[in-house]
Amino acid sequence: MNANKKYKILFVCLGNICRSPAAQGIFQAIVDRNGCSDAFAIDSAGTYSGHRGDLPDRRMRRAAEARGYSLTHRARPVSMQDFFDSDLIIAMDDNNFTDLMHLAPSVETSRKIKRMSAYFSGHSLDYVPDPYYMGADGFELVLDLLEDACRGLFDSIIREGIPSES
Ligand code: 4NP
Repeated sequence: MNANKKYKILFVCLGNICRSPAAQGIFQAIVDRNGCSDAFAIDSAGTYSGHRGDLPDRRMRRAAEARGYSLTHRARPVSMQDFFDSDLIIAMDDNNFTDLMHLAPSVETSRKIKRMSAYFSGHSLDYVPDPYYMGADGFELVLDLLEDACRGLFDSIIREGIPSES
């Protein structure tokens, strides 16, 4: 790993109050547990700006807290600068992916966009569903999916190594 520059990951969903701040908190916990905190900068954002400044949804904060994750991120929309600053931009579902591809300012930056489902190992879904209009089970399912994908993502980065120019 490059000792000077952090590897920057941006998790993206629609509102930035449920899925992506939870992914951020879970991935940060994995990084911290593995003693890699200095090597990563983990952030999240939304393709929709209507929740700008909000804490994560109370239902998601409660469900995450029960698993040991404290979610304190404040919602913000994706910016153009994110495409240049991030090493990896992770979309929770196909709509997020398509929106990000349209927003990407260049082919090079669009190559940073990946689907969260690419990192699932124990689940057969091909997206992380929006829990906003679901019951409590929806939030638990999303956390299960995110814990699985975050482990897979962390393992893949460690296996492949963080590029030295990042
Ligand atoms: P998220 O969930 O994309 O996982 O943060 C949503 C939160 C809010 C809305 C949609 C999805 N909303 O339309 O307000």
